[in-house]
Amino acid sequence: AGVDLAELEEVACRVAREAARLVVEERPEDLGVAAKSTPTDVVTEMDQRSQELLLDRLAALRPRDAVLGEEEGGRDGTSGVTWVVDPIDGTTNYLYRVPQYAVSVAAVVGDPGEGGRWRAVAGAVANPESGELFHAREGGGAWLDARGDTRRLRARSTGDLALALVGTGFGYAPELRARQARLLVELLPAVRDIRRQGSAALDLCAVAAGRLDAYYETGLHAWDRAAGELVAREAGARVGGPFDEVAAQALTWAAAPGVAEALSDRVRALTREHVGL
Ligand code: IPD
Repeated sequence: AGVDLAELEEVACRVAREAARLVVEERPEDLGVAAKSTPTDVVTEMDQRSQELLLDRLAALRPRDAVLGEEEGGRDGTSGVTWVVDPIDGTTNYLYRVPQYAVSVAAVVGDPGEGGRWRAVAGAVANPESGELFHAREGGGAWLDARGDTRRLRARSTGDLALALVGTGFGYAPELRARQARLLVELLPAVRDIRRQGSAALDLCAVAAGRLDAYYETGLHAWDRAAGELVAREAGARVGGPFDEVAAQALTWAAAPGVAEALSDRVRALTREHVGL
């Protein structure tokens, strides 16, 4: 109540676009790279600069809101709205110049901290390389701005899991990856094919745009998925997530309505068996 969702969506679009411009236009020849949780989990100086820009702009536009970012340096607020931001989702792609990474910005209500209950009410995901901007607000539909055009997004109508193109992703810890691989061994023969595109935010938007029938991943953080899940849900996809009985950190999935039940039953069972909850 009292929250102007149209305004939040507009702010999300504006700051995501600006940060997207920064990471592509000011990318240095030689990226400064530091390791985070594992040697392959890296943060570049541009992740940090992008987050600083997001913090800056959000402080100016929405001074009473809190901000939670993937990188350090969030802040508390008093309005009940928290901006959950991933300054570069798909950092490995960014590092290798694979044009599949994004700036993800979501306005959430509730507690987006570890294990907390929250829900995204507006959000935007910008792909700096393609110029695409995916955005949504609760109840307002999902939209894609690209090449000067805006179009409404709809999930696919696939009804058969065997014909579904399914996206997924992997964490950085070798032990988690081994378990994710065991799940995949069983899922791959049961679907059309698997894509590992490298950005959870864009994968969720791909479900919204009908470029994937479904997507799932274990172990995501709120900033990887907050905006993308809202876009997928508003495009008519079914989304498992924060209010699923499965813990918020454990399993994220989004699927076209016709394959949602089969996909989620399968992936949840396989997650329990192989990944553990
Ligand atoms: C990663 C990407 C990747 C997913 C990983 C995430 P980051 O985000 O979204 O697709 O599989 O689980 O951590 O680290 O590049 O912001």
